[in-house]
Amino acid sequence: MKGVILAGGLGKRLYPLTKITNKHLLPIYNKPMIYYPIETLVEAGIKDILIVTGGNHAGEFLRLLGDGHQFGLKHINYTYQEGEGGIAEALGLAEHFADNDKIVVILGDNIIEKSIKKAVEDFREQPRGAKVMVQKVPDPERFGVVEFDDKMRISGIVEKPKKTKSNYIVTGIYMYDNQVFDIVKTLKPSGRGELEITDVNNAYLKKGELTYSILKGWWTDSGTFDSLHRANILVTKKIKKK
Ligand code: DAU
Repeated sequence: MKGVILAGGLGKRLYPLTKITNKHLLPIYNKPMIYYPIETLVEAGIKDILIVTGGNHAGEFLRLLGDGHQFGLKHINYTYQEGEGGIAEALGLAEHFADNDKIVVILGDNIIEKSIKKAVEDFREQPRGAKVMVQKVPDPERFGVVEFDDKMRISGIVEKPKKTKSNYIVTGIYMYDNQVFDIVKTLKPSGRGELEITDVNNAYLKKGELTYSILKGWWTDSGTFDSLHRANILVTKKIKKK
């Protein structure tokens, strides 16, 4: 299985912090943000990694990460997203890299406390389809919100709804088989002008091929001032506890 980290977009919600650098290079306690999703994948046993980045500071990723030897990697693959056409658009750029293999995708601003190894192993055994990692949060309206049927099976995912039907959201950790690239090609831009990852997940749901795991430990994104601050506090506490 291969890993894809999506670190494109322009990070406008963090302006002016992101005026002269890429969001994913901002510090979270003692490391740049992008280190955390790389470490999450490596810890789960994924060594073949593509980073999709974009904007005006993409070259800095190469200067910072190089060939990835500091993570125990032999090599890191990079590609470039023009503009910010959405998470699913950025994912579409990974088709050549995936080369029909299954992929684990993680958003570059998602930071977690614990391991995803078990879910990755489960997905390795899943014959086809997709798996999403979900978690309960106090502010679901900021995310892709999960709706369940009475047997706790996912019945729908709604991107940033005004009225939420549960407190469970789809985190930025997704696993896909090679159908994902054909699905991305069918997508139309949403109201915010982006190709939405929620539409990809709903396409798998419609085929009856979407499973989920509940993420253990804390999870946070770090793309707004409040969540960036929260990520710093959570990571600091975790490191000092060791
Ligand atoms: O963090 C989880 C949430 O991420 C999910 O619950 C939502 O369903 C999903 O849509 C997404 O929500 P956001 O609106 O918070 O995503 P954001 O635009 O902040 O992008 C998150 C990361 O995705 C960003 O750090 C880099 C990557 N990205 C984003 C865009 C828009 C790209 O690589 N390219 C892009 O064009």
